Amino acid sequence: MREFPDIERFLLLMKETSALKNGTEAPRNAGGEIVFDNVHFSYPSRPGEETLKGLSIAIQPGKMTAIVGDSGAGKSTITKLLMRLYDPAAGSISVGGQELRTMDIKQLHDQIAIVPQNPELFNCSMADNIAYGVDGGMADKNAVIEAAKLANCHGFISKFRSGYDTFVGARGAQISAGQKQRIAIARAAMRQPQLMILDEATSSLDVENERVVQEALERVMKGRTTLVIAHRLCTIKNADEIICMKDGRMVERGTHEELIGARGAYYALVRNQLVEQAAPSAERDSTSPTSIASLQRQTSASM
Ligand SMILES: Nc1ncnc2c1ncn2[C@@H]1O[C@H](COP(=O)(O)OP(=O)(O)OP(=O)(O)O)[C@@H](O)[C@H]1O
Ligand SMILES: [Mg+2]
Repeated sequence: MREFPDIERFLLLMKETSALKNGTEAPRNAGGEIVFDNVHFSYPSRPGEETLKGLSIAIQPGKMTAIVGDSGAGKSTITKLLMRLYDPAAGSISVGGQELRTMDIKQLHDQIAIVPQNPELFNCSMADNIAYGVDGGMADKNAVIEAAKLANCHGFISKFRSGYDTFVGARGAQISAGQKQRIAIARAAMRQPQLMILDEATSSLDVENERVVQEALERVMKGRTTLVIAHRLCTIKNADEIICMKDGRMVERGTHEELIGARGAYYALVRNQLVEQAAPSAERDSTSPTSIASLQRQTSASM
């Protein structure tokens, strides 16, 4: 049985295999601070075109850090470097004070859970899908139920006639997108990862499903180092820190309130998203400046 489906799927999705020299050290503190120090990076297929241009960021242990920015800003690239699919051309990346290049990557991956946008489920029971990769799939039934409760799945699973023994269908075809996402979160919770990475995890869900999934995520993320890449900014409003990227660089960092107050790049992203949400009625209005007070009102009402 393959052990870590989310990570394997992530690597597969990226369709890239790493030919990098593996390190030998076991990760000492995979949940510790993550530091990108002046990282420069170009994709091998686009030499000379820098995707990260001297990026320096620190991701605090036990906290939720969100990365936002326009499409193509380099957000997913950060997670790819963190998974060590590539090495930077210059600068360094460390996790818990340990340089990424020195670590045995398989052991690091064992301590990371990724919740992707379209998680892969297997055509086996709900319980087996949740327990996948933990204790060879032989995890304790109570532990499965605990994880399911944490991930807001217990309710809908219990309603099926066969409960936890219900099959999910090929690729999870017999359950909804939000339910699938919650099973993936329960699976992540089972593994008790030191580090969680969410790349647009809830962006394909409708608002109601997003709320339920978001609650589940917040419970599982609590106290863990979490890196969230979000498209819908309302999902990261409560992040401990928001890092705003533009064209391969960090342009701002702070809490939602701080960045709204700063009226910079993050403010512009939020404003654009609110205008999009309010379209088409706001289209007529989109050229008029939005006052800070009204934006603050809107962000607390609709985000
Ligand atoms: N495998 C790749 N090979 C070459 N260039 C790539 C590759 N993956 C991404 N890029 C380029 O690197 C830049 C940053 O991409 P990245 O995927 O990190 O953006 P992003 O901020 O995650 O965007 P989005 O919000 O659309 O997901 C883009 O210009 C993209 O075209
Ligand atoms: Mg991306």
